[in-house]
Amino acid sequence: MFETLPLLAADPILGLSAAYQKDTNPLKVDLGVGVYKNDAGVTPIMAAVAAAEKQRLNSETTKAYTAPAGYPGANSAVTQLIYGTSHSAVNDKRVRTIQTPGGCGALRAAAEFIQRAKPGATIWVSTPTWANHIPLLNSAGLQLREYPYYNYQTHQIDFDAMMAALAQVPAGDLVLLHACCHNPSGADLTQAQWQAVAQLAQTQGFVPFIDMAYQGFGEGLEEDAYAIRLLAETLPEVVVAASFSKNFGLYRERAGTLSLVFANETQADAGISQLLSVTRSIYSMPPAHGSAIVDIILHNPELTQQWQEELDQMRRRIQGLREQLVKTLNTLQSERDFSFIAQERGMFSFLGLNVDQVQQLKNEFSIYMTDSSRISVAGLSVDKMDYVGRAISAVLHSH
Ligand code: LMR
Repeated sequence: MFETLPLLAADPILGLSAAYQKDTNPLKVDLGVGVYKNDAGVTPIMAAVAAAEKQRLNSETTKAYTAPAGYPGANSAVTQLIYGTSHSAVNDKRVRTIQTPGGCGALRAAAEFIQRAKPGATIWVSTPTWANHIPLLNSAGLQLREYPYYNYQTHQIDFDAMMAALAQVPAGDLVLLHACCHNPSGADLTQAQWQAVAQLAQTQGFVPFIDMAYQGFGEGLEEDAYAIRLLAETLPEVVVAASFSKNFGLYRERAGTLSLVFANETQADAGISQLLSVTRSIYSMPPAHGSAIVDIILHNPELTQQWQEELDQMRRRIQGLREQLVKTLNTLQSERDFSFIAQERGMFSFLGLNVDQVQQLKNEFSIYMTDSSRISVAGLSVDKMDYVGRAISAVLHSH
């Protein structure tokens, strides 16, 4: 039976990490996968996370199953992290939150839940969107359509085109939006633009499906949750998938959350019973360790503060790298203005190179990025800046 399966090409993002690992060039630079790295090129365990892990090791008494929704404490803490301390939807008991195996688990559980509520529902995704959104949502049976988002020529969001497309979305369809740090473009909506989207969702009756994989990496923890808080206040239904891979650095622990906003408490009670039956049929219950760490940190004021400071530091470092990269590139060449990179937020920006140039960077300079020329800015460092800048200038000149 298995002989019918052909060999697949490597994953467009994870495949890059494997190729980078194998590369023996000491000058190699990994701008591929969205993983935070410090100046030494290391993805550190955050000090608040390490402290929480110690606490957990000392206090854990059993490995018996947790609840199907994950730790209740983690769910309430995470609900507060997403919606703030006194959100009307939370107070009205319209919100239900469960822990999931990472952000991908949240996206997939949401897609399966939507499929149960409305088989074959249509979800609109931005052009471009994170490569893995497509298979994650598609394989649950949802129909995918696209709305224009990023203009590669102007390096701006094409907001008019986006709104014109969303004005055609019928009631009951879903629209996938990135809460902050749009992956792959780094271009985010302003608060005024979010308000316009919220208004349109209300008139059209579409359901926002928000992916928040980078809370704290854009403008700050509170600011980055602006869209979700606004939409949850003004609309009857919102789907929120969030990841703790980046902001807690818990990548391999697979910690994420799915939070659903319902029209009222009765629908929320029915909805969560369905959601838990969906997740039971996929993975039964979420892994415990990552969410336990999130739970411990968010329930301990000192650890919360330490974690927030570390997160602020990571955000500032990436912003600094963005500014340095612009300065380096604009000094080394005059063909293109790269200033837009400093205006964008989160881990990613497009360099605006073609596939041949991307391949040349990999083959001649051991600099890795996705074929779309998306770079993970956190993979840069001060000492690599000049090398990367010169390599990019060289490939710009050779094509
Ligand atoms: C990325 O876009 O590089 C990250 O979200 C990691 C991943 O799983 O693709």
